[in-house]
Amino acid sequence: MRHTFTLANGVEIPAVGFGTYKAADNQDEAVISEAIRQGYRHLDTAAFYFNEEAVGKAVRESGIPREEFFITSKVWRDNLGYESTYREFEASLQKLGTDYLDLYLMHWPRPVDMNAEWKDLDAETWKALEELYRAGKIRAIGVSNFLPHHLNNLMDRTGIVPLVNQLEFHPGYIQKAAVDFSQRLGIQVEAWSPIGRARVLKEPLLLELADKYQVSQAQICVRFALQCGVLPLPKSSSPERMRQNLDVFDFTIEDDDMHRLMTLPQIGWSGEHPDRERVPVDE
Ligand code: A2P
Repeated sequence: MRHTFTLANGVEIPAVGFGTYKAADNQDEAVISEAIRQGYRHLDTAAFYFNEEAVGKAVRESGIPREEFFITSKVWRDNLGYESTYREFEASLQKLGTDYLDLYLMHWPRPVDMNAEWKDLDAETWKALEELYRAGKIRAIGVSNFLPHHLNNLMDRTGIVPLVNQLEFHPGYIQKAAVDFSQRLGIQVEAWSPIGRARVLKEPLLLELADKYQVSQAQICVRFALQCGVLPLPKSSSPERMRQNLDVFDFTIEDDDMHRLMTLPQIGWSGEHPDRERVPVDE
């Protein structure tokens, strides 16, 4: 298996990225620096994570050239719209201390206010993203948490297919309809919470497969995403587990085990759904 994915526009992305959301409370920069030391070059942040400054600082202080990193950020759901997207994009660049992004995503298809006119807002936001892309300020543009009807709205109004769709994806919550729909359109799917925020690690099937393949349950989750053609963005605060989550290229999950993982009953859902209020779940 290759260690990169190639987007429909030819841009290559390291196949495992580091998720920086709540990487470690108040210690973002140290955690991100550690992730870089452990080998991560693909860093996934967002305006809403309030850690873009820490990501930028860790990148600069690594001494590794900017071009060797793949940096993603996202425009928050309450800042959708043409002008606010331009503003938010510039703010992200400034916080990250860079003059371009590798990938910029619409974080959610709707504002927190579920009654808002999301269809127009999405199309206006996308127009700004497209212009920034054409101007060479972003190497790839995409969306996050978009279900097929959200993607259809965007494509109906703008005619442009996003390059990436980042979704919650892990054993027990694989969002098959959204993943299949995206992949059929040539959209690269990325997985947020590929380990189900550790909620799924005690699942007996994961324990069984970890034992069978002599890896950890988390490595099964990361490898599972890769074998589904989905780019995992695991988070961890420990150097050992960061390294472990990158060390997933010398074993293969057999087809039948993949099928068993794909057909698990729902477990580990975050409680987030783009068209619903957040449902509280036990962490
Ligand atoms: P920790 O920071 O202590 O490593 P996700 O990326 O799916 O949201 O999952 C993140 C959670 O999974 C964090 O709580 C993290 O805890 C835990 N985690 C990450 N990698 C591993 C691993 N290799 N083994 C066990 N737990 C892990």
